[in-house]
Parts: sequence; C-alpha cells; structure tokens
Amino acid sequence: MRSRFVAGNWKMNLSKPEGVALTSAIAEQKFNQQTEVVVCAPHIYLDELSNIAASNAQLHVGAQNCHFADKGAYTGEISAGQLKSVGVEYVILGHSERRTYFGETNGMLKDKVDAVFAEGLKVIFCCGEVLEERESGKQAEVVKVQLQEALGHLDASSFKDLVIAYEPVWAIGTGKTATSDQAQAMHKMIREWVAEQFGQATADAIHILYGGSCKPSNAAELFAQEDVDGGLIGGASLKAEDFLQIINA
Ligand code: 13P
Repeated sequence: MRSRFVAGNWKMNLSKPEGVALTSAIAEQKFNQQTEVVVCAPHIYLDELSNIAASNAQLHVGAQNCHFADKGAYTGEISAGQLKSVGVEYVILGHSERRTYFGETNGMLKDKVDAVFAEGLKVIFCCGEVLEERESGKQAEVVKVQLQEALGHLDASSFKDLVIAYEPVWAIGTGKTATSDQAQAMHKMIREWVAEQFGQATADAIHILYGGSCKPSNAAELFAQEDVDGGLIGGASLKAEDFLQIINA
C-alpha cells in the first residue's frame, strides 16, 4: 500500500507573510497517518518555512527548481546543496513551465536529477504532453521519452527518492482537468515503464501524482484511481482550506 502524497506548487505566488501563514495553518493539522505533504515555495521563503514544517513530521518543504552544478559562477542560480543547507527535502524538476519558458530540456533535467540526488534530496519529476500531442494520440510516447531521457540512466535504488508527477500541460491552470480515466491510463503506463526498466518492486513503491487543475471538487475521484497516489497542486494549494480539503480527499 502506497501512502497518499500531496504537494503544493505555489509557483511565483504569495508574499512571505502569506506563505508563512499558509504553511503554519498546514503544519497545525493532524493528517491521516498514511499521508505525506510537501509545500514547494519560492526559494527565499524556504529557510523559514522549513523551520515551521519541522513541527509536523508529515510536512516537508520543497523547492521548484535548482541548478545542475554544485557551485560556481552561475549568477542568480541556486544549487541543491544550498537548498539542503536551509532544510529543503524535495525539489520539483521538469515542470512544464520551466521546460516552456526557460528552455529546460530532458538532457538538462537528467543533470539536475543527478545534482539533487548527489545531495541526498528527493525529486518530484514532472512529465506531460501538450494539447496537440494529446489530440494526435501521442501522449504515452511523449511522456516515455521524457522519462527515459531524464531518468533512464538511474539505478533502481534511486527511485525511493523519486516521485513522478504526471501533469498534462493542457490541464495546468486551465480549469480543464484530465478525466479520472485519462489520468489512470497515463499513470498505469508510467508505472509499467518503471517496472520494465527498474523492476516490479520499484514500480509498486513509487508515488505517481496527478497535476493539472486538481481541486477540492475533483481530487477524491482522481485519487481513487488505482495508480494515482496523490496530486501536485498549483492554484488550489494557495488557500489553506482548499489545499487541506485536497489532502484529505
Ligand atoms: P494548477 O493546479 O494551477 O492547474 O497547476 C498545476 C501545476 O502546474 C502544479 O505543478
């Protein structure tokens, strides 16, 4: 039995006082024992948020990106080691917004995955197809290439520190959620890919999250699917009430 896993991706939203209030409200909650929660906040809040999250063993703090080098002349960038030094446990990598707006390729993501694992942190790796690819029936093919190129080189033991988030790009921030059948089909395909490459035990253990317009009204149905282990939540993670309803869905 896999635990429920719900991560909030705040993206470039909330002021520091708002983020502190939100994280404090989440940290006060007692979750079902089999639940893990992560808040992925802007870098400059992570230090303080990890102190707040330390009061709740089921709550963790994540970053939304990091650089692939461990240090050096990369003005404006943050390394995995620097994130670790402020108490960060997870790093989101490969979000479609980073792929689209910042030109992140599967090859760069492979290096970022390695950099995060080298520091002993955990990765929430995002994959997903754009609308055109979905409309031409290429979603499975596209996602398999993303997985193979960024994760295919790993060994099975790394997978205990890996969470995969399937986020169809056409569902992100659009209010248009994948149906539970569409999500289940993709999650099953992803789990089968993990099984083929890294063995059935690895596939049975890995958390595969759904992301894309997930909200209190649709979370329960999505999470009820056999291969959907929770969600990566954008807009609905910005309000404690909504995020908590999703966590408890
Ligand atoms: P929304 O929940 O706002 O659609 O965003 C999903 C997402 O991109 C999470 O990473």
